[in-house]
Amino acid sequence: MTTKLTTILIFCFTLFIALVSAAPVRRDVWDPRIITPNAETIWLTGQTYNVTWETDDAPVNITNKIGRVVLGKDGIQNQAVLASNFSITLGSIEITVPDDLEPGFDYNIVLFGDSGNSSPQFAIL
Ligand SMILES: *[C@@H]1O[C@H](CO)[C@@H](O)[C@H](O)[C@H]1NC(C)=O
Ligand SMILES: *[C@@H]1O[C@H](CO)[C@@H](O)[C@H](O)[C@H]1NC(C)=O
Ligand SMILES: *[C@@H]1O[C@H](CO)[C@@H](O)[C@H](O)[C@H]1NC(C)=O
Repeated sequence: MTTKLTTILIFCFTLFIALVSAAPVRRDVWDPRIITPNAETIWLTGQTYNVTWETDDAPVNITNKIGRVVLGKDGIQNQAVLASNFSITLGSIEITVPDDLEPGFDYNIVLFGDSGNSSPQFAIL
């Protein structure tokens, strides 16, 4: 009886430790939320647009301020680098949609800085 109780206690304690260690660790990595393009966006090839994102929640010290915007299609992020070497504290960057893209409704962009954040899928026609 006592042994069984001890076993249960040890089990509960182990579970507790496991849950505590699994708790998220706070880090100063910032994923800026992309405002445009969004699910309603339609971009035309060869045209210039602004990619915009939230900067209100930017931490004081960002580990990597250098941003990069990469275009993806159907979840594959290798279509084109639309912008690079800009400060992600700007909140917006002008990009030009490449001329040679095939029309599609499954494009997205990823804004890289500290970490990557993806936009919803949108259309390029
Ligand atoms: C992008 O944003 C800048 C600053 O707000 C503005 O001057 C520029 O006209 C915008 N470009 C486009 C293509 O909307
Ligand atoms: C940010 O970095 C500066 C200079 O390295 C430092 O003095 C300051 O304490 C840092 N602030 C935070 C909130 O980490
Ligand atoms: C990135 O931008 C900085 C400042 O505008 C410039 O000094 C540097 O040469 C640029 N780097 C590249 C690889 O374009």
